[in-house]
Amino acid sequence: MCGIIGYTGFREAKNVIIECLKKLDYRGYDSAGIGIIDDKLQVFKEVGEITHLEKEIPAMSGDIGIGHTRWATHGKVSKENAHPQISPNKKIAVIHNGIIENFKKLKEELENKEHTFTSQTDTEVIAHLLEEYYEGNIEEAVFATLKHIQGSYAIVVMCEDEPEKLIGARKESPLIIGVGDNENFIASDIPALLKYTNRVIYLDEGELCVITKNSVHVFDETKKEVTKKEDIITWNVKDAEKSGFPHFMLKEIFDQPDTINQALRGRVSEIKQTIDFPENVEKLLSNGTDSIHIVACGTSYYAGLVGKYIIEQICKIPVIVEIASEYRFFSTRNKSSLVIAITQSGETSDTLAALREAKNSGCKTLAITNVIGSTATRIANGYILTQSGPEIGVAATKTFTSQIILLLLTALKIASIKNTLGSNDLYNYILQLKELPRHVRQILDNSDEIKRIAKQIKDSESVFFIGRGINYPLSLEGALKLKEISYIHAEGFAAGELKHGPFALLTKDTPVVAIVTNDPTYNKVLANIGEIKARGPQVIAIADEHDTEIEKHADFVLRFPSNSTLLSCIPITAILQLLAYHVASLRNCPIDKPRNLAKSVTVE
Ligand code: G6P
Repeated sequence: MCGIIGYTGFREAKNVIIECLKKLDYRGYDSAGIGIIDDKLQVFKEVGEITHLEKEIPAMSGDIGIGHTRWATHGKVSKENAHPQISPNKKIAVIHNGIIENFKKLKEELENKEHTFTSQTDTEVIAHLLEEYYEGNIEEAVFATLKHIQGSYAIVVMCEDEPEKLIGARKESPLIIGVGDNENFIASDIPALLKYTNRVIYLDEGELCVITKNSVHVFDETKKEVTKKEDIITWNVKDAEKSGFPHFMLKEIFDQPDTINQALRGRVSEIKQTIDFPENVEKLLSNGTDSIHIVACGTSYYAGLVGKYIIEQICKIPVIVEIASEYRFFSTRNKSSLVIAITQSGETSDTLAALREAKNSGCKTLAITNVIGSTATRIANGYILTQSGPEIGVAATKTFTSQIILLLLTALKIASIKNTLGSNDLYNYILQLKELPRHVRQILDNSDEIKRIAKQIKDSESVFFIGRGINYPLSLEGALKLKEISYIHAEGFAAGELKHGPFALLTKDTPVVAIVTNDPTYNKVLANIGEIKARGPQVIAIADEHDTEIEKHADFVLRFPSNSTLLSCIPITAILQLLAYHVASLRNCPIDKPRNLAKSVTVE
């Protein structure tokens, strides 16, 4: 969603804010704007990329300012609707991420008081209310304004008459303070700040902060000052750069041998033959020995579906996986089941809402996330971190594979708690896990071959992905990756389901990607490939390196190294990611920032 940055310090605010906005533009990129106090409040806004905005801003020496990248929710993409939004007297500016649900009513009330609005945004009402309530102290005006607002927000406000201060406030949208020496920041997320500081303070629900270049004060909703602790971020600037790759997505795919190691580090002991989470979740996991409920969105939801196969097979307990935005319509809440929320960002609104609902219903909750300090880590009873470093490409890649690794470790831990896993089984899993980085590297080394196959499907209108068992959710993820970055229509199916409807859409021009592993479903998938071939399409099989049969059935074969069926899902995923990437690259698509999508969806 929208990216937010506020700066006050000893540098030229304009340069810092543009720099930070470039690091944030993966959150939203339809328009951008900046407000600087350089004697007077000055605001510049442009539609499109940050570079368009950068070109339009004159030289300015102000050392305090705010900046915003927009992902439109209310009002079309236009200069007027970009942020900052300003008060009628042009002295107060606000940037906002979230949705003001009662803005129409507030707007009507303000219009009755002769206020004239210049945008269609919900945010503009905040700027108008701030002017209404301003009596010489901007934080008091923010407190008063927030009392009237319903919905979600992360805002940063500044006022020409108090040019030393920035005010930040949050409710259901993330906001952090970056603490520097003789400079401070407010931002929607960490990558914006990494160049300048690794010291952050996370604002909690309902909190408001007042920062100057050398002070930080945080207040709760009752205006009582609260003491906050600083966290040190271990990500570094390099993690948030392309490092010579043409796209973040490709870099993040190639990061996976390392990020898999990171997910395993400190948790898997080959010598002791144990799985341990340093995050101290063992007691919490013992709540998951009867049943587990997983909630998530997008790619994280597909990780959950993969996790279902893994946990059910290893632990022999039932797992229900639910799309987070549907969870609230679920009528049964089993208090004895552990609810696991999977969210890379830790900030997806629908997932947070499901997590809160589960907790309020008395369930024990665990978050699997990539962002320490994120809202999910603070709502859930416990959390485990994927430790993948920042993921910038909108299409999730390295966090998906690490989420699966953590689900596997969770399954192994629960099985150890239940005492249902033979020590040999655990040892074998540990050995196979240790092989994964090498296996993924083998796939990455084969990237050119995958690109060759990508040429076969780059002009297709539609591509199907099929698999059985654990390969079914991988098919869904393979199709999602392809559709979101290449704009080719793609669908994933359980291989046995094609004949129950989707066959009607199959023509000789619909390539089918079939995932074929050496498991009890093998012959059935071969039969499904036969049914497809009889209707004319080309079949691209993703198959085990030792499978000598498959070439007789498929037109093209991409190979993955032999491992247990459960663990093969990781190298298979790397093939699917590279396939989608190369198709999108051959079609010249904006891979890191697909149209209409945002990395972190902080509205419901
Ligand atoms: C957005 C992103 C997806 C992501 C989903 C869930 O739609 O574009 O890549 O899978 O949100 O995000 P989360 O941060 O909760 O994993």
